[in-house]
Amino acid sequence: MPAHHEQHPALPPVSRQSPAELGGPGSVLLRQRRDHAELDRLMNAHRAAAPGGPERDRLWHDFVRLVFSHAFAEETVLWPVLRRVAPDGEELTARVEEEHQAVNDLLARVEKAPGDPRRQEWAEEAFRFVREDIRDEEDVLLPRLRATLDDRQLRRVGAAWEAVRLSAPTHPHPAVSRRPPGNALAGIPLSGFDRLRDRFPTAGPTARRTALALGALAATGAVVLGARRTSRRR
Ligand SMILES: [Fe+2]
Ligand SMILES: [Fe+2]
Repeated sequence: MPAHHEQHPALPPVSRQSPAELGGPGSVLLRQRRDHAELDRLMNAHRAAAPGGPERDRLWHDFVRLVFSHAFAEETVLWPVLRRVAPDGEELTARVEEEHQAVNDLLARVEKAPGDPRRQEWAEEAFRFVREDIRDEEDVLLPRLRATLDDRQLRRVGAAWEAVRLSAPTHPHPAVSRRPPGNALAGIPLSGFDRLRDRFPTAGPTARRTALALGALAATGAVVLGARRTSRRR
C-alpha cells in the first residue's frame, strides 16, 4: 500500500459519504461517483454480453467514450487543482496518471487490432486498471479534495470538469501528454475529430461540423482558464 494511504487515515472514502457530505448537487465528487458507477456497470455488462454480438460492441463503444472523456477532464481540471491544494499532490496524481496511460495504451491496442484473438485479454487488463483507478480516486484523491475545498468550490470545479468532459477526446491518443497544457492543446482539437468519428463514422467533416467543433473548443478553453484562475486565487 502506498505511503499516502497511511498519511490521512481519518478521511472517509467518497463511497461512504452522503450527497450532502460530498458538496451537494453539482459537486465534482458526486459527478465523479456517478461516472464511476456507470463505468462499473458498463464493464460488468460487457463481461456478461455474448462475445462477438452487437450488444457487446455497443457496450464497448460506450465504455471507451466515457473512460476517455472522464479521464481527460480529470487531467485537465481536477488534478491541477489537487496539485495546488495538497502538498503531496504531485505524488498522488502521478499514480493515477500512470493508470490512465496504461488504460489508454491497452484500449489503443484493442482498437487497432479488430481481428486479434488477444483483444478480450487486453480489455480485461484495461478493466482492472480502471477499477484500480476508481479505487484510488474514491479512497484517496477525492477525499483530499473534500478536505481542502468548501461546497461552493466543489460545485465550481464540478461545472468546469463537466464542461471539459463534454468536449473531451473519446478515443485513445497515446502520444498526447497526460498534463495540461500539453493535453488540452493536443487533446481538444483531437476531440472534435473523435466526436465526428463517433457520429459520422464514414463521413468527412463539413464546414458546419468543423465550426461546431471549433465553438466547443473555444468554450472549453475559456472554462479551463477560468478554473485555473479560480484555483490560483485561493
Ligand atoms: Fe474518476
Ligand atoms: Fe481516473
